[in-house]
Amino acid sequence: MSGNNGQLQVGDKTVDMAIKKGSIGPSVIDIAKLYSQTGMFTYDPGFTSTASCESQITYIDGDEGVLLYRGYPIEQLAEHGDFLETCYLLLEGELPTAAQKADFDYRVTRHTMVHEQMARFFQGFRRDAHPMAVMVGSIGAMSAFYHDSTDISDPYQRMVASMRMIAKMPTLAAMAFKYTVGQPFVYPLNSLDYTSNFLRMCFAVPAEEYKVNPVLSRALDRIFILHADHEQNASTSTVRLAGSSGANPFACIAAGAACLWGPAHGGANEAALKMLEEIGTVDNIPKFIAKAKDKNDPFRLMGFGHRVYKNYDPRAKIMQKTTHEVLAELGIKDDPLLDVAIELERIALSDSYFIEKKLYPNIDFYSGITLKAMGFPTSMFTALFALARTVGWIAQWKEMIEDPSQKIGRPRQLYTGSPQREYSPIGRR
Ligand code: CMC
Repeated sequence: MSGNNGQLQVGDKTVDMAIKKGSIGPSVIDIAKLYSQTGMFTYDPGFTSTASCESQITYIDGDEGVLLYRGYPIEQLAEHGDFLETCYLLLEGELPTAAQKADFDYRVTRHTMVHEQMARFFQGFRRDAHPMAVMVGSIGAMSAFYHDSTDISDPYQRMVASMRMIAKMPTLAAMAFKYTVGQPFVYPLNSLDYTSNFLRMCFAVPAEEYKVNPVLSRALDRIFILHADHEQNASTSTVRLAGSSGANPFACIAAGAACLWGPAHGGANEAALKMLEEIGTVDNIPKFIAKAKDKNDPFRLMGFGHRVYKNYDPRAKIMQKTTHEVLAELGIKDDPLLDVAIELERIALSDSYFIEKKLYPNIDFYSGITLKAMGFPTSMFTALFALARTVGWIAQWKEMIEDPSQKIGRPRQLYTGSPQREYSPIGRR
C-alpha cells in the first residue's frame, strides 16, 4: 500500500491524514489517529464507507461487475479451474503447479472423515432441525474434537485446521442433510473428487448403487467456486472479528456460518426459492413487484440487490448458464419456477424502480433453482453456501492472524442513551 497525505477540517482543527492507495480500487483515508487528534469517532453504521482491513485476497468492482480472486477473474476460474484449485489459490496466493495441486488434493482428501463420536453428537439434534442450526453447532463442536489444531500461534496447526475444515465441511453438510431425511450417514469415498464425493455422501443410500453424474458434479463444483470468497462481507467480517480475539479457528468459522445464515446474506438463496414458489405463476409477478416497490411493505425481491454490486453480479451470469446446463442434463424443460424467474428478471431489469436503485439479480437468484433441480431441499441451500465459503473465511482469518499489525477488533459507538442518573429503589419508581 503506497500513500500520500490528505487533510481533514474538524471544527477549528486541521488534521493530517495519510491517504493509502491499494493496487486497484478506491484509496482509503487512514483515520486511526482521528480520535487521539480530535476526540471524535467516525460514524458509519453498516460500514458503507469503511475499510476494516488491508487484504490481498479478493477484489470486487461493484460498478463494473468485476470479481477477482488473487487477481484472477471469477469467469476464468469457473470456466477452467476446479474448486480445490480455487481453494489453493485463495489460501496460498498463487495457482498451484500440477505437483502442488496433486499434493493439495491428496492432503484435503485425507481429512474428509470426521471423528466417529461426531456421528453420535448429531443424534442430539431434533430430526427437524434446520441444517444450518446443525452446521453452526457441529462446526463449533470441531474445536472439541481436534485439540491438536487449535493453537493459533503455531503455523502448522493453523494449516492443519484449515485442511480439516475444507475437507470436513462437505462431510458435515451431508450428515446434516442425511440426518433431517432420516437416512444413514454415508462415509466419504476418497477415490472420488471433492464435489463428486459430496454428492455421493448426500444422495447415495446403502441399498442402491450410486453413480455420480459428472455434469451435476461439475456444475456444483462451479457453484462452490463462485461462492468461495467475497472480500469483507458480513460473515467474513464476523470471522475476522471473532478471530481478532484469538479464538480458535473452528469457533471463528462457526461464527461466520451463523452470520451467513441470515436472509440478507447467505440465507437469501433459500429465501429466493421460497419467494419464487410463493409467486407461483407468471401472472402473479406484477403483484409482487408492486409489493417490493411499496415503501410501507417490508417485502423485498429476494435474490435482487447487493451492497457492493451496482451492476450485474458476475457470479449471477455464470450461475444462469449453469442453471440451464443442469436443467438440460436432467431433462427439466418446463420448470414453472424457471418461467417465473426469467419473467421476474425481465420485468425487474426494465422497471425504473430497480434500474434507478441499481438492483440486479444476484447469485442467489439462480443458485436456488439449480440446487433444487439437483435434489437438494431449500433448507440445505445455505449449508452449501457455508461449505463453499469456508475456504474464503479461512484464507481471510489466516491473512489476519499472519498480519503483525493485527489487534483485537473493537468498534466504538455514538451513545444516545440516558446520561448518568441516580438509581431509585423499586418501591419509589
Ligand atoms: N427488493 C426491493 N427493494 C430493494 C431490494 C430488493 N431486493 N434491495 C434493496 N432495495 C431498495 C431498498 O428498499 C432501498 O430503497 P430506499 O433507498 O428507497 O430506501 C434501496 O434499495 C437500497 O437498499 P439498502 O437496503 O439500503 O441496500 P443495502 O446495500 O443495505 O442492502 C441487500 C443490500 C443485499 C441486503 C439488499 O439488496 C437485500 O435485502 N436484497 C435481498 C436479499 C438478497 O438477495 N441478499 C443476497 C445478497 S448476495 C449474496 C451474499 O453476498 O450474501
